[in-house]
Amino acid sequence: MLVQALADASGALWLAPIDASQRQSYIGCNRLQAACDERETEPMTSTLLPTTPESLLPLVLQAMSRTPDARLRQLMAALTTHLHQFVLETRVTEAEFERAVAFLVGIGQATGETKNEVILASDLLGVSTLVAMLNNPPSPNQIGTSESHAALLGPFWRQHAPRCAAGDNIARGDTAGTPLDVNGTVYDAAGQPLAGALVDVWQASPVGLYENQDESQPDMNLRGCFTTDAQGRYRLRSVHPAGYPVPTDGPCGELLQAQLRHPYRPAHLHFMVSAPGHRVLITQVFADDAETLHSDPVFGVTAPLVGHFERVQRDGQELALLTHDFHLLPGEPVFPHPPIP
Ligand SMILES: [Fe+2]
Repeated sequence: MLVQALADASGALWLAPIDASQRQSYIGCNRLQAACDERETEPMTSTLLPTTPESLLPLVLQAMSRTPDARLRQLMAALTTHLHQFVLETRVTEAEFERAVAFLVGIGQATGETKNEVILASDLLGVSTLVAMLNNPPSPNQIGTSESHAALLGPFWRQHAPRCAAGDNIARGDTAGTPLDVNGTVYDAAGQPLAGALVDVWQASPVGLYENQDESQPDMNLRGCFTTDAQGRYRLRSVHPAGYPVPTDGPCGELLQAQLRHPYRPAHLHFMVSAPGHRVLITQVFADDAETLHSDPVFGVTAPLVGHFERVQRDGQELALLTHDFHLLPGEPVFPHPPIP
């Protein structure tokens, strides 16, 4: 049923069904016509239009209430309710609304092949970490231990990292920096080592840039995919990563500046660990000596994700050592959509 707004003699506004002759002018496409025809069997009712800001929400919820997809219906009802409450509570002005729309348009326009500004915005609001925490509870044998939990994917994961043999160095070309040895074991939920698990690792360089941000680095530098051995172990070499600023050349940078927040993430390694019959674990391991460990702008640091990067001397050279184990939960392995190609 299509409706139109009518004013009665007192000036009050009402919703009333439109007649057949009017309908054609309201209908811009066959799809809308079909939806209209489908609803003609419903009883026609007139509804008082909202007269106060608070009376608008029930009408919006009613309009969306027939959404066949139950989860979409639930999500949109909750989102709309919170949005209305937010606007009412803060008394958003028209100028502020325009600014908010410009921000949303801006994060879309700033998203491209090397950067996903929409994910970054979600990260800066803590929403990405919240979703990761909610959807990846620790397995029973992780609670109270230092084993890994999930962390956000971040905007720099690429599919198809080079397959590496145990002990390979993912620092290719002329990547200078403190050498880093990383090793650990992948376990299943019962605490048994998982052979043949894939450990996909990616990181920023010692100057804080991912290879896709830095033309001086070879393609796929500091990225690699390792397979655990019969004892579930993985081992790789790299260079100690540096902390880096999240991109500040878009609307998110302006937001950080307006909020007097620094953009520097603490140094970390990203991991995506997977095995058949297990959920994909996406996580990060942060260097315990990182400068901004306690003020990560994307709120990705939780206690179990802090790794001990031990500094040792070997052959007269400083070396960093990290041992970190992963625990996978049973389930279907579902891989994320890569934020960049
Ligand atoms: Fe990162």
